[in-house]
Amino acid sequence: MDNLNTVDQNADLPPQLDFERDDVLDVIPLMRVLQAQGPVRKVRTPFGSEAWVVTHHQTIRDLVTDERIGRTHPDPESAARIFAAALGGPIGSFDDEQMKRAHLRMRRFLAGMFSPGRMRALYPMIEARTSTLLDNLEAAGSPGDLHELVSWPLPVLVICDLLGVPDLEIETFSELSEAALDMANWAGAASAWQELTDYMAGLVDRKRGAPADDVLSLLIAEQATSDLTDDELVQMATGLLAGGFETTVARIDLGTVLLVTNPDAAGAIRADPGLVVGAVEEVLRLAVPGGGALPRYAQADIEIGGVTIARGDAVVFDANTANRDPAVFPDPDRFDITRAPNPHLSFGYGPSSCIGSALGRVELQVVFTLLLQRFPDLGLAVPVSELAVRPNTLLGGLSALPVTW
Ligand code: HEM
Repeated sequence: MDNLNTVDQNADLPPQLDFERDDVLDVIPLMRVLQAQGPVRKVRTPFGSEAWVVTHHQTIRDLVTDERIGRTHPDPESAARIFAAALGGPIGSFDDEQMKRAHLRMRRFLAGMFSPGRMRALYPMIEARTSTLLDNLEAAGSPGDLHELVSWPLPVLVICDLLGVPDLEIETFSELSEAALDMANWAGAASAWQELTDYMAGLVDRKRGAPADDVLSLLIAEQATSDLTDDELVQMATGLLAGGFETTVARIDLGTVLLVTNPDAAGAIRADPGLVVGAVEEVLRLAVPGGGALPRYAQADIEIGGVTIARGDAVVFDANTANRDPAVFPDPDRFDITRAPNPHLSFGYGPSSCIGSALGRVELQVVFTLLLQRFPDLGLAVPVSELAVRPNTLLGGLSALPVTW
């Protein structure tokens, strides 16, 4: 990385973006420098292309909701690439109204599946799943890997409950999900994704004959009164997995690290479990899973923050750094479980913000409550500096989280 003190936007070359971090609890150091310089700054991506990075909270909100920003590009082959992962570039060509319409449709169908009532109904199931995983951790003995035994399996189990995957098939489903998102093995990931899609299509067929109280059955019921196709239905179901798996795993891991390194906060939650709600918001604000953010592309020239983003330029919204924007969050690096308001951008913002945010919140609230209750002496088995971010992933997260109790 360039010497941070000499980052100069007037120099011939913009600074080189590097996603490596020494501290899993901190943002990328270059991003802080860029944030102090202005809301929108130009960088070179690890692939040598140029891109704009947005680190100011308000500017991200303005641009995310701006019609002139999208995920498509006029010439996808020549577009700047930001990340190694498949989603590290554009997803099609400009002006793809059809794609936008399909996206809106998908959101309309899914929104009802995540109603507060449905989330409340899932609560006891999430508690039971979490308790069993904590039993497994305890049985494995201290020190144990919380990532492997709790954070990694829980979100898939919850998605299985949400979709209505039969218990006996959960293991197969979990293995396929893991393989499908393995960025270190592209060919394996693609074939696992296909298998998962086929599995889901088969499950939909079976549910059609025997509906139950789950999201797949609800979507099937929607088909009676709408033109929702089978393909769309299966795509939505697998989309929930893509959206709700590694995102949640990373927040369980990093939230645990934040809680055990802030013992006063952990003690306060043990004494007053209601505080977990604010703690989860603060975990969401401060957890920096690494990996990257989905790149966007300017669909027209945009004047903003003293620069001109030209049509076709890549734009990266760095929500992690914006979550520490001192203009919005006083004492931004402080882990303050009573912080209010806490308008973090960890679930995105605007038209493609997270559909599963209510579920993600419930999962985190349950896990941290039970974890802190069950293990009063919970601590890290290694220093924070030895925790490593998973390589080759879009969404990052830790590769292991050894804990003692
Ligand atoms: C703490 C956990 C989670 C975090 C931090 C998170 C974060 C996000 C973010 C930032 C986006 C927006 C991406 C963008 O704008 O490009 C998103 C979208 C999405 N998330 Fe989540 N998510 C979490 C949990 C979940 C869960 C549990 C589910 C469902 C089971 C889910 C389903 C989705 C879906 C379907 C989208 C796509 C929405 C769209 O394209 O309109 N997420 N999530």
